[in-house]
This record gives sequence, structure tokens and C-alpha cells, in this order.
Amino acid sequence: MVRRPLVVGNWKMNGTRESRKALLADILSGVSETDSAEVGVCAPFVFIPEAAELLESKSILLGAQNVADEDEGAFTGEISAPMLREFGCDLAIVGHSERRLLYGESNQLVAARYKKALDHGLTPILCVGETLDQREQGDTFAVIDGQLAAVFDLAGVESLANAVIAYEPVWAVGTGRTATTEQVQEIHEYLRRKISEREPEISASLRILYGGSVKPENARTLFGMPDVDGGLIGEASLDAESFLSICHSV
Ligand code: 13P
Repeated sequence: MVRRPLVVGNWKMNGTRESRKALLADILSGVSETDSAEVGVCAPFVFIPEAAELLESKSILLGAQNVADEDEGAFTGEISAPMLREFGCDLAIVGHSERRLLYGESNQLVAARYKKALDHGLTPILCVGETLDQREQGDTFAVIDGQLAAVFDLAGVESLANAVIAYEPVWAVGTGRTATTEQVQEIHEYLRRKISEREPEISASLRILYGGSVKPENARTLFGMPDVDGGLIGEASLDAESFLSICHSV
């Protein structure tokens, strides 16, 4: 099964209107449809309409950094999947560790967001991963199992046919401390095996990205691991040269 790698920039809460336009223009000039990797960017909500215009009929995917667990109504501060579709989004990150840890999003809430994304034709990028404490306690697999179970209970394992998973060990996010290739491959292989037990074909075609201090210097080795199908890139995606170098490392 050939999986086309995917490299997605998560801009988080960074940039100005002008700086994002310039960044996108620079990224566009360095990406071509024939590249080995598919490329996406997840912009802050307010930049999405303009980004969608710039990306129209281009080969770069556009994503949001979260999506509401409801379609419409009195949910102050939330943005729904139909709204994101209307404004041209293809992807939505759900369950990023910053949402889980800083904003208290539970496994159940993340699962509900994931399901809404799928219901409205967005591809969810489901983030899973353990904290340093959990890893040191030997709880890594149990934590990831719990994160996945909530999604499988609500949306079914088969929903992964239209989703992407990103393994982001919390201790490697924004810390400059990358997981070793062995640590990454171990978890990615575990994820694929676990899904394969229930849905072998979906597991074989599922893209599992790694995120956490991916840089131009380490991207090639990380992406070279058999179960790593690209990356979710934070800080290094804010600089076109670094991001493109990572995209071309595939
Ligand atoms: P960094 O690449 O800055 O570590 O962030 C990773 C991340 O959180 C991507 O979603």
C-alpha cells in the first residue's frame, strides 16, 4: 500500500494578516503538485477566508486548528464544520495537546469534534500523545488507547478511512526536544497494528503523521521510518524556507 506523505503546518496563534499572506505566497512558490508529499496549512480562523482565496485551485490543503462539536447555535467562541467548509477548509486539527491540556478538552469532546468534521466532509487530523509524566509512569500506551477509544466509540474505527492521525508526544511539542526515531516508530507501529486488528485495509492506507520539534535537520530521518507518513509542523512552519525544506525531505 503506497501512502502519499502529508506535511501540514500548524501556525497556531501566530502572525499578522500581512505576514501570513507573505508566508503563504512563499510556500506556494515552492510547492508543486508533483512533489512526493501533499502539503497543508492550518491557519488561525480569521486568516482562513483570505488563505482560501490565495489557495484557490492550488494544490495546498487548507485547514483549521479546531472545529466545533455542534453544527450551530449558542456556542460562543466556537466555529462549526459547515462554516469551515463554506470558507474552503479541507482539514481540521482535533485534540491538539494544547487544546487538551490548556483548555481542558476531554477525550469525549475531541471525539465529538472529530465526528462533526467527518460528517461535514472535513478531514480530521486527530492528535494523540502522552505527557512526559505519563511516559515516565509507563502509561504511554494506555493514554493513547484512551484517546483512540473515545473516537472509535463515537465514530467507529472505519471512520479512519477519511481521517489522519498525528502522534505528538507532548514533551516534544515546542520544546526543541524531538523524540528519537525509535520512539516515534514504536508508537506509530503500535497505532497501525492496533487499527489493523479491526480494519486491516484502512490501517494500511492510514496516514500517521509525527509532530513535535520537526526541523529541516531531523525531518528526513523521521520521515524515513516505515510507519511515519509525514509531519505536523509547528514552529518550523512559520518560516517558508524551513517548512519547504521539511516538505521536500519526504
Ligand atoms: P513544534 O513543531 O513547534 O514542536 O509544534 C508541533 C505541533 O504542536 C504541531 O501541531
